[in-house]
Amino acid sequence: MNNKEIIEMTEDHVMHTYARYSVAFVEGHGARIKDADGREYLDFLAGIAVSNLGHSHPNVIEAICSQAHKLIHTSNLYHIEPQSRLSKLLCENSFADKVFYANSGAEANEAAIKLARKYFSGADKPRHRIISMEKSFHGRTMAAMAATGQKKVQEGFEPLLEKFQYVPFGDIDAISAVIDDKVAAVMIEPVQGEGGVNLPPEGFFKALRKICDEHGVLIILDEVQTGVGRTGKLFAYEHYGVEPDIMTLAKGLAGGVPIGAMLASDKVAAAFTPGSHASTFGGNFLSTAAAKAVIETILGEGVLENCNKVGAYLTEKLNALKSEFDFITEVRGKGLMVAMEMTVPGVEIVNECMERGLLINCTAEKVLRFLPPLIITEADVDEMIGILKSVLEEL
Ligand SMILES: Cc1ncc(COP(=O)(O)O)c(C=O)c1O
Repeated sequence: MNNKEIIEMTEDHVMHTYARYSVAFVEGHGARIKDADGREYLDFLAGIAVSNLGHSHPNVIEAICSQAHKLIHTSNLYHIEPQSRLSKLLCENSFADKVFYANSGAEANEAAIKLARKYFSGADKPRHRIISMEKSFHGRTMAAMAATGQKKVQEGFEPLLEKFQYVPFGDIDAISAVIDDKVAAVMIEPVQGEGGVNLPPEGFFKALRKICDEHGVLIILDEVQTGVGRTGKLFAYEHYGVEPDIMTLAKGLAGGVPIGAMLASDKVAAAFTPGSHASTFGGNFLSTAAAKAVIETILGEGVLENCNKVGAYLTEKLNALKSEFDFITEVRGKGLMVAMEMTVPGVEIVNECMERGLLINCTAEKVLRFLPPLIITEADVDEMIGILKSVLEEL
């Protein structure tokens, strides 16, 4: 099928919940992806921070294929070897002691919210309130949507799950003003993704950990977008020198195979007992085998080093554009989660880049977002900058 045929069939039969571009991709390798008409694109979006090792990484293909030949599904009624192995790997490389598996970021966050409620449910005074951030994004299911501090995500789905309270991201005084011993958790992204690649001020997470400890409040860290090497560390909290109580992962964890994970310390995880929570597909053979290959590749093949090196190069090149174009106001980010904020809307720029064979993204209206595979080279950055610059010049 070509692009046109695929698009027509989608329009006829798939619910219209996405404003899709008029293209269907059919093949990808590394940072290159090809559409159904045979046109090649340079991918600086990676399926929105999913294909962190690039498209069709050989280690991921090998893990999926060899597992598929052996066994694809049993159930969480039984033990699952790749799930055990992945959990050991995740716990050995993070603050966490235990993992629960789901199938997406929203589901991982649902599990985190349930765990925080359950943790306080047996207390003399159960806690129900959760403080989350304005401009946050935690997913589209009912609890994750209620946690999301964006009206446009929630409109039309009220009444929302109660007890969420929103404060400006990175504002420790705003949190101090509302935190008390009725709050179960503060839910927060280490760097806001959909909200515009917003970084917290220096020292914010240390101050947050302190204030949460003073009030016995849990920190739920949503690393769905920042996790799995995206910011140049395996997990973004490592930049801040503090540990959360609960962390959620999804997107890049299994290289594109659906997965969600909710990790917690033993103390908190103990609140979940048989029957507390479950998922038929959560932690299945294929996704956990793929995720194990992803984590091993990130830790063993210099991927984080490349992410930091090429991330710094990308930031430098975008800053050079900033000094040329006065409508660019700021370049910010960590590792290969980078944004360029402008005074003009970004949609047209994204469309024009696509016409010229480059995939980038716009979020929060005026923020161009770059989330390439972590294996890109400086030559890929030069090519991307060349296309972007030609588009900006014509604006
Ligand atoms: C920080 C964050 N949390 C949660 C989600 C939701 O993940 P999913 O789309 O897999 O449900 C996203 C998706 O963009 C995200 O960026």
